[in-house]
Amino acid sequence: MTSPVRRIAICTGGGDAPGLNAVIRAATISAMALGWEVYGIREGFNGIFYPERFPEGGVFRLTRDKVRGITHLGGTILGTTNKGNPCHFPLRMPDGTFREVDRTGDILEYFAKHDLDALISVGGDGSLTIANALAEKGLRVVGVPKTIDNDLDKTYTTFGFDSAVSFATECLDRLHSTAESHQRVMVVEVMGRYAGWIALHAGISGSAHAILIPEIPFDLNKVVDKIRSRDGHGRMYSLIMVAEGAAPRDGDRLVAAGAEIGHAERLGGIGDQVAKALQGKTGKDARVVVLGHLLRGGSPTTFDRLAALRFGAAAVRALNEGQSGVMVALSVTGVNYVPLAEVAGRMKAVPLDGDTIQTARNLGICLGD
Ligand code: F6P
Repeated sequence: MTSPVRRIAICTGGGDAPGLNAVIRAATISAMALGWEVYGIREGFNGIFYPERFPEGGVFRLTRDKVRGITHLGGTILGTTNKGNPCHFPLRMPDGTFREVDRTGDILEYFAKHDLDALISVGGDGSLTIANALAEKGLRVVGVPKTIDNDLDKTYTTFGFDSAVSFATECLDRLHSTAESHQRVMVVEVMGRYAGWIALHAGISGSAHAILIPEIPFDLNKVVDKIRSRDGHGRMYSLIMVAEGAAPRDGDRLVAAGAEIGHAERLGGIGDQVAKALQGKTGKDARVVVLGHLLRGGSPTTFDRLAALRFGAAAVRALNEGQSGVMVALSVTGVNYVPLAEVAGRMKAVPLDGDTIQTARNLGICLGD
């Protein structure tokens, strides 16, 4: 029989997303109500690996005061990092080169030494894969799904996604008038990594005329046909939404920076390429707007706040019920728990037979195929 939980730690890892602070607040208050002590680990696991970097403590006590008034704030009061994955940690050698080492053992050791009973790990695919590895090594862990990309499997959605989509939609709303005034083609590049969720949902909601996503390799001539057809009907401007991971049928996705030990490759540049090619092929003035990290900033929407608060409270309930190695997930009927092993390393792509894709087609939006 496992010992009761008394002291827990929370960490946030990977790219930040609106709603992280709401999770931290809900988990802290729920745990304190059970009489538990709650600690925050700074910058993923850096607070454990590099305590000297944090004069106020790499791992610090989360109190009611520390989590007061943070529900609506973007970012994370714990800080985060998408470098230094503990499973593939880049250890600097005396000659300046890096060697990959597994530092999960150091995390388990830290928890044992400081009488920490459990971890709530808030993150995307990378962080949840790390959480699963820690659970397999015997740490009590509950994961909370976070990412603006919405690419995590086994949950209806992740918090952060709605905020990103709402912002991207507003940007499209604003671009219609300037594009129309100048009779231009405006290309909007959005994040999303290897999935097209943000581009598709914002593109439909913001009335883009073409949407290019990684799940559908595109033929640019189809977009050219769409622009020409609009011109033929006196609609002299077009808005093209492009996911950063989108790629032409005869080419590869664009990588802005290659992968290194401990962190993934960075995508970007396809918007610029598409805009230049469309200008060349149509003779129309084309501009690109890259929304990039703007999608990760700002306040969480009401949907994301509530999802994040529900996730944080549910993570504590899971630990209190004796669960471990699970992720809190959202279904249409409410929160539930799924094994971390079923989420780790898996990606949820946009289903091509889903009704959202069908809706785009019904509306006459060009998907590049
Ligand atoms: O996973 C979230 C995300 O914002 C992706 O959409 C994007 O590809 C990546 O992170 C960008 O990472 P970075 O903050 O390292 O530029």
